[in-house]
Order: sequence, then structure tokens, then C-alpha cells
Amino acid sequence: MPLELYSEREIEKIRKASRVVAEVLARVAEMVKPGVSTWDLELEARRLAQKLGAKPAFLGYKPPFSDESYPAALCISVNDEVVHGLPKEEKVLKEGDVVSIDFGAFVDGYAGDAAVTVIAGKGSPEAERLLKATREALYNAIEKALPGNRVGDLTQAIYETARKYGFKTVLRYGGHGVGRKIHQEPFVPNNPKDVGKKNPRLRQGMVVAIEPMLTLSTEETVEDADGWTVRTKDGSLAAHFEHTVAITRKGPIILTEP
Ligand code: MF3
Ligand code: CO
Repeated sequence: MPLELYSEREIEKIRKASRVVAEVLARVAEMVKPGVSTWDLELEARRLAQKLGAKPAFLGYKPPFSDESYPAALCISVNDEVVHGLPKEEKVLKEGDVVSIDFGAFVDGYAGDAAVTVIAGKGSPEAERLLKATREALYNAIEKALPGNRVGDLTQAIYETARKYGFKTVLRYGGHGVGRKIHQEPFVPNNPKDVGKKNPRLRQGMVVAIEPMLTLSTEETVEDADGWTVRTKDGSLAAHFEHTVAITRKGPIILTEP
């Protein structure tokens, strides 16, 4: 499959979906407090998405890496969970929990995808620093989202930012093209070891979800018996930020903003 390029009109459609994603994420992030269950966030995301005329992209979606469809609208990954954490009624947030929330949605046949990490109540200085580094890694990568650069330049920006703080980036998980589908090529690695020989060039009209996943101390992850939840191998904290970004001649446009 060749890399899909989008017209300005299509990018506007991706922006529409992305705006809903931003609004839903802002709302559920604001709800994150000790005592709130991750299922409460899930219900609010579903309600608000429907109200805004969007269809959650992950709910019922079968990603290439799984034999089953994902059972929720949100991925909520707490503390050592990196990505794909399942919302659950019995999973009640505690003071200091590091909560990554990932949401994607379709409007009118086009999708946007974003993630944020927030802390329930007051976080440790180390957790705050991890969030700061991960957000910075995202924005440093976005700056490199220019026609003519390569996917590996985004990876490098993420990796260098993590390293500057003494943190790690995970292997095997990363960003992706987005638009007509929630996941398409190119894969955007978070770790330079995953940058392949192809290392495609970014072109005007490409839309990518850039999603750094940083950990305190390891590149390795393990998958839970539930078949979804990915956690750090050493149990250290992880954080995740993501934006959907259009690559244009005038520079990167962050679509998942209000
Ligand atoms: N974390 C993924 C992303 O942002 C989405 C997970 S898809 C799922 O691209 F359905 F498996 F949850
Ligand atoms: Co994504």
C-alpha cells in the first residue's frame, strides 16, 4: 500500500474529527481525580462523542496486532501501563496515579487520534518530569514534521528528548498514518532501533499521528493476559502524548487542537 496523501479538503475533514477528539480528551482529562473509575471516563467519552456526532474509532476495531476487537472507546493506561489499558468499573484512580488517555474518532469518514497523560491529584516530582519530557518529545517531533524529512527524523527527535531527561522510549510501539483509516502507513517508531531500511520520506499531504511513549527506565514492554494492556517490563512509570499532524508546505499543522 502506497502512503496515502490527503488534499486540503480532506485535511479539513480530518481536522473536524480531530477537534472532536481534542474536546473529548480535554473533558475526560479534567475528570481525572482520585476516586474516579476509568469506566466513568469511558462512559463520558462515549456520551460526548455521540453528542458531537463522532464515532469512537477504537471501539470494535481489530488492530493488526490482535485477533480480537478492542472493547472500549478509550485506552486508559495507568502508571506502569504504557498503552491499550482497558477501562474498568473496578479500576478506581488513586492520588498520584499517572493516567494516559488515548482516543480516536471518525466524523464523516475521516479520523483523528490523540492522547494525553495527566496525574490524579498530586504527582511525584519524577512523574511530573516524565510528563514534561514526553510532551516536549511530542512537540520536538512535530517541529520535524516537514516535507522532505524522513519518518526517522521524528523518531530521532523523540529519542533525543527522552535521552536528555534520562528516560527511555519503548520498542515496537509508535505512531502511524491516520485519515481514511485509524491506522495506516507509515509506522512512526519511538525507538531508533525500529527505524527500518525504508525510512520513508514525509510528503506534503501526509497526515500522521505522532505518539511518544516514554518510561522512567526501560525500552521493554510486556503484554497482560487480557491481550491488550501493555506495561513496562520493569514496572517503571510510563507516559504517552499524541497529536494528529498534517504535513504541509507551510509546515506542520496540529489537527487535534480545539
Ligand atoms: N494507541 C493506539 C493509537 O493511538 C490506539 C489503540 S487501537 C486499539 O494509535 F484499538 F487497540 F485500542
Ligand atoms: Co495513535
